[in-house]
Amino acid sequence: MNIVVKESKVGATKVKKNVDSALRRYLLANPSLSDLVQFIFINNRGILAADESGGSIAKKFAAMKIEDNEKNRRDYRNIFLSAEGLENYCGGVIMFEETAAQKADNGQLFGDLLLDKNILPGIKLDRGLVELPNFAGETWTRGLDDLAERLEKYFAMGFRFAKWRAAFQIVGNKLPSATAMDLNTTILAVYASLCQNAGIVPIVEPEVVHDGDYNIETCALATTKIIKMLMEKLSEYRVDLTGTILKCNMVLAGKKYVVQSSSLDVAEATISVLKNTVAPKIGAVVFLSGGQTPEQAAKNFHAIKNLNLSEGVLPFPVSFSFARALQDPALTAWCGKESNFGVAQKEFVKQLQRVAE
Ligand code: G3H
Repeated sequence: MNIVVKESKVGATKVKKNVDSALRRYLLANPSLSDLVQFIFINNRGILAADESGGSIAKKFAAMKIEDNEKNRRDYRNIFLSAEGLENYCGGVIMFEETAAQKADNGQLFGDLLLDKNILPGIKLDRGLVELPNFAGETWTRGLDDLAERLEKYFAMGFRFAKWRAAFQIVGNKLPSATAMDLNTTILAVYASLCQNAGIVPIVEPEVVHDGDYNIETCALATTKIIKMLMEKLSEYRVDLTGTILKCNMVLAGKKYVVQSSSLDVAEATISVLKNTVAPKIGAVVFLSGGQTPEQAAKNFHAIKNLNLSEGVLPFPVSFSFARALQDPALTAWCGKESNFGVAQKEFVKQLQRVAE
């Protein structure tokens, strides 16, 4: 793959419209799915998950007394997507479908703005969680019905990767049911095969939800079972693993557990689970932040990266794909006020550097 992402210092230059960016030229040559994955992670870049659904945004805004309307949602996304230097830290950005139809200040669709900055636009294509009847508290993820049509639409708009999230709860020490694991990993595999048929890299995201009262060993057990099953399903549905990204939780004690895991414990447990479950040829593995504080998520991510670097155990790229841990400090600074835009953007870039550097 021959593509150069120009280094630029954050804040040093104004983003210019570049209709002939290296990435646009590269896409015209129809790179393979595996090359697209590699493109995202060039220079140790990661992924910004700016794809909270309408419901999640409404909750965030309500907590800060920000009116939940289309303009405010666009202005909020604009803080992140128009940040100067974003391309130095993120090779991909995942957007929500509403954002993909919205425009940046210069009148470009947000996806075009990203392409011009040599950032691959990605799209969240699941339509959220639905309760699984007869399995208290468990869920499955919907959105397969018109997936093929939506993939075609986003491919034409230059999007080359997509995300689908399945969520798994640990209640007390009770692991997710075999039925919920089977159903959700099957859906993830069907989604992944549809993505690849449409020329789009799938991010498969099986998340063990952090918000529980369980210890790190229980999290390791659940994560192991789920990723193992997912690997089997991906292979059964003939998904090309080299053109697939696994997005998973770090292995750590639940948020409500009495003893919180140290960064070293998180790093050791996470690397050991990945080593025992993930097929070596997977394109890449990225972590969600899952409601850890921005500081915790950055610290735990660094511990995983450093341990992996020193021991060299994982044969695939490992990076971040955070939403809350990258965006929350900026949301607090912005508070829905236009006059806070600049400060909020600075907070975002500061946190991005903290995580990525
Ligand atoms: O699906 C979840 C998001 O992409 C990651 O969100 O980093 O806030 O857990 P999070």
